[in-house]
Amino acid sequence: MTPHLHPSVAKLLTLPDRQRQQSLFTYKWIPYTRAQHVIRKLDDLLTYPPTHRMPNMLLVGDTNSGKTVILRHYAETHPSYAHEEDGRLVRPVVFMQAPPGPDEGRFYNILLDQVYAPYRTNDRVDKKQRQVIHTLRHLGVRMLIIDEIQHVLAGSQAKQRLFLNVLKYLSNELMIPLVCAGIRTAFNAIQHDEQLANRFEPVALQSWSMGDEYRRLLLSFELLLPLQHPSNLVDDVLAYKLLDMSEGRLGELARILRLAAVQAIDEKSECITLNGLSRLDYTIPSERMIYHRLFSVKEGAEPGYLTGNDHPLPDGLLSGEVRLVS
Ligand SMILES: Nc1ncnc2c1ncn2[C@@H]1O[C@H](COP(=O)(O)OP(=O)(O)OP(=O)(O)O)[C@@H](O)[C@H]1O
Ligand SMILES: [Mg+2]
Repeated sequence: MTPHLHPSVAKLLTLPDRQRQQSLFTYKWIPYTRAQHVIRKLDDLLTYPPTHRMPNMLLVGDTNSGKTVILRHYAETHPSYAHEEDGRLVRPVVFMQAPPGPDEGRFYNILLDQVYAPYRTNDRVDKKQRQVIHTLRHLGVRMLIIDEIQHVLAGSQAKQRLFLNVLKYLSNELMIPLVCAGIRTAFNAIQHDEQLANRFEPVALQSWSMGDEYRRLLLSFELLLPLQHPSNLVDDVLAYKLLDMSEGRLGELARILRLAAVQAIDEKSECITLNGLSRLDYTIPSERMIYHRLFSVKEGAEPGYLTGNDHPLPDGLLSGEVRLVS
């Protein structure tokens, strides 16, 4: 009997160790409460009647907090379909990643790639913009999701403004909600533009702290680890240790548990223990950041650019409080 495992995972126990370890690296979606909350907000946006003043969302959170996973999951659960009347392809949700810098042409290229529309790379930007509007309308797109939005909001204020205007124009012209995701630098950039700040509701993915939600998350993770014996991750000692090591970041927690499960299979203990966690070859995120900053200073790069942590968010935003902006 393996009540500590999800039935689909229990089946994996008969596999050779190597395959069981490999299975740990396949993606599994955990519908934790905060993610479900974000998804309900996305549903509200998707069904919002088209107007010239659409509400938008900015999903903001530190790196590794689960932003991309939620948004990709949403796009995957709203795939393309054939229109009932004329068989035309309808694409309700488009997910894209912003280009690495504030380059409007590249932004449109990526968007056109996402919807499989052919274009000429050296076409003028205004032509590409028209093509984007036409193609998205034709496909019946009802939501555009732009991940890593801080990339296009980097640089001088003039460049930021250019991109903020691109976003405003797309949202107005297409009458669809924009959902942007990024770290706190994106939040700060959007706050600089009063009109956009009013139309982007910030929704935060905060880091985890001890409590029922966190314990439920650990239970979900444990159900997905193909180990013979229960680890009882929710027990105080393990739960606190994991919180400490991950510094409350979902992605780090997922990574630690994967590494610890691989180790438990190698060592035949078949469960995650405090001793096993203490021996893991793992550096906690803030220590990694210290090395990273030291390294970037040496290389002459701007320390902190990658995290944006040097721009503080208003109190409470990343600690779970969601501010509604009308
Ligand atoms: N709902 C979920 N279910 C299971 N695992 C998840 C979930 N959300 C996040 N994770 C884990 O956390 C990791 C990091 O998530 P994600 O890439 O979405 O973070 P992010 O906030 O987009 O980070 P970044 O700002 O660096 O892009 C994922 O690779 C996955 O292991
Ligand atoms: Mg991401």
